[in-house]
Amino acid sequence: MNLFQRPRRNRKSAALRAMVRETELRPSDFVYPLFFHDGTEDEAIESMPGCQRWALEGLVREAGEAHALGIPAVILFPAIAKDRKTPGAEESYNPEGLVPRAVRALKAAQPSLVVITDVALDPYNSDGQDGLVARKEDGSIRILNDETVEILCRQALSHAEAGADMVGPSDMMDGRVAAIRSALDAASFEETSILSYTAKYASAYYGPFRGALDSAPKDGDKKTYQMDPGNIQEAIRELLLDEEEGADMVMVKPAGPYLDVISALREATTLPVAAYQVSGEYLMIKSASAGGWLDEEAVVCESLTGIKRAGADVILTYFAKEVAQRLG
Ligand code: PBG
Repeated sequence: MNLFQRPRRNRKSAALRAMVRETELRPSDFVYPLFFHDGTEDEAIESMPGCQRWALEGLVREAGEAHALGIPAVILFPAIAKDRKTPGAEESYNPEGLVPRAVRALKAAQPSLVVITDVALDPYNSDGQDGLVARKEDGSIRILNDETVEILCRQALSHAEAGADMVGPSDMMDGRVAAIRSALDAASFEETSILSYTAKYASAYYGPFRGALDSAPKDGDKKTYQMDPGNIQEAIRELLLDEEEGADMVMVKPAGPYLDVISALREATTLPVAAYQVSGEYLMIKSASAGGWLDEEAVVCESLTGIKRAGADVILTYFAKEVAQRLG
């Protein structure tokens, strides 16, 4: 045995391991996704144990607590009342709608908090699709691209007017980043950033989220706009387009099952890369540890470290607050 090389020497104590650790989580890595509704009571979300559908007051309090722990940003997901959901998703660009009101309240209470909004039609659309739906003669559906992009621009503008720091188009329509950039610039919102959901896969891991917002597609699936899980070259294609179209940050979603995509994007771009540990990833850890089968704290930390090690500069996770609490 030639043992001049003993890698274990660098692992022999906690202090030494801390010295040579390559990837470490910080509270400033995280974006905290928050659900909220127009009611007066905070509600537990059945499909996502430990998460709440906040009333506005609770939302502002929760975001403030997260920010105080060093989390720089939140991203907002509204639960829209059923009677406001329409085929044309008109509520999505209502300047007095739930999201603009939440943005104003959050920015008034926490001016230094980065407030990100989700731009897509699914919470507002009675069809539960991210875009407008046309029905073909045989009853099947088609998602209209360019007509949807026009609405997304109005939606992004209503968020920017309310004071959002960043808008996050999650709809996967073609050309939407460029269109939103032009619309924002034309209205003098050149400082409003765009976080593009660049490689958003048609994933079964979104199930619990759709339960939280009652936003599951009524008909069909999202495979004509969200990406096929088998593809990675296509993620690079989307990246190149988003760069050209003016995205400030690009995202891979989900995160854990797509670490190779995160790495590929990190290698291919100089923009910050975000990754979204989605509701299904959250629920798998939560439910396995609720049964006593997994050590929740340890698995959460390991899963997020893996996402960061793969190349994510920013991580969206429902665990953000509890991890920041532990790191602090
Ligand atoms: C909607 C949207 C979804 C998520 C974020 N924005 C669901 C979907 O596309 O069906 C999923 C987030 C999660 O699962 O945590 N445009």
